[in-house]
Amino acid sequence: MTRIGFLGVGTISEAVVRAMCARPGVADEILLSPRSPERSRALDSEFAQCHRLTSNQDVVDASDIVVLGMRPQQMDEALASIAFRPEQVIASFIAGTPPSGIAPLVEPASRVCQLIPLPPISLHKGPLVVCPGIPEVLTAFSDLGDLIVLDDESRIRVLSCASAIMSTYFELQNRVIDWIADHGVDPDVASRYIRSELEGLAAVGRVTPDSQRHDLPGEFQTKGGLNERVRAGLLERGWFEALPAELTDIYDHAILRPPARQ
Ligand SMILES: NC(=O)c1ccc[n+]([C@@H]2O[C@H](COP(=O)([O-])OP(=O)(O)OC[C@H]3O[C@@H](n4cnc5c(N)ncnc54)[C@H](OP(=O)(O)O)[C@@H]3O)[C@@H](O)[C@H]2O)c1
Repeated sequence: MTRIGFLGVGTISEAVVRAMCARPGVADEILLSPRSPERSRALDSEFAQCHRLTSNQDVVDASDIVVLGMRPQQMDEALASIAFRPEQVIASFIAGTPPSGIAPLVEPASRVCQLIPLPPISLHKGPLVVCPGIPEVLTAFSDLGDLIVLDDESRIRVLSCASAIMSTYFELQNRVIDWIADHGVDPDVASRYIRSELEGLAAVGRVTPDSQRHDLPGEFQTKGGLNERVRAGLLERGWFEALPAELTDIYDHAILRPPARQ
């Protein structure tokens, strides 16, 4: 049994904790810091393996792995007076600060990794980036989604920027649903139709061998058919160049850690 302590029980910590507690046969103990009292109390009362403690230091004292679940601008204050132990493992959710940036704040603990969960983790879906792949962390966070292990922390920024397609995905979903409804179809039917289509396509994308993924656009269109015409039109409008260009822009210019006072 591993004792996993969460400092900061906000949106993403709650999603991860709920997913962890829903795994059958995993008896790890989960210790919660007391901030966000409603959320941490609810988890404590819902799951036998969750315990809300009375201070951040109590959580650290009771944990083998300490998860940092606060916002970047809350990190310095939250960690300032905490005493860590050398053998503890630190797993940080904090965006924009790589493991080497967290390490000085958690000394004498020296084994530090970054975890990047995305919201679908609450459904046990989607990637969970771990960098570097500390074995205890890989075990503690297994079966929550797909573990994607990175060894080089300079590459975390690439995946963080690439994950910024989530809102665009839903905008795409909703634009097509609205277009159907604008053409006289019941909005509920439009919504069920497109969300079901996207789920089906994602499932095909998922099971297709990686070596064949480049064939999919061609396989899902008929020569001269509607799919081919839409894709060709969007290619001509520069749609598919615009997306990587936006990703390059945030990769080159975005500050992932907001200023302290924000
Ligand atoms: N949301 C996502 O999809 C996502 C995905 C990947 C990574 N992340 C990263 O995960 C981290 C948390 O994001 P979030 O969206 O979950 O933020 P959030 O909902 O604002 O949660 C932050 C949590 O930290 C707590 N906190 C603040 N100061 C604290 C302190 N001194 N001691 C203990 N706890 C403290 C807050 O408590 P109070 O409510 O009492 O202030 C709250 O429970 C961020 O660093 C973010 O970059 C988020």
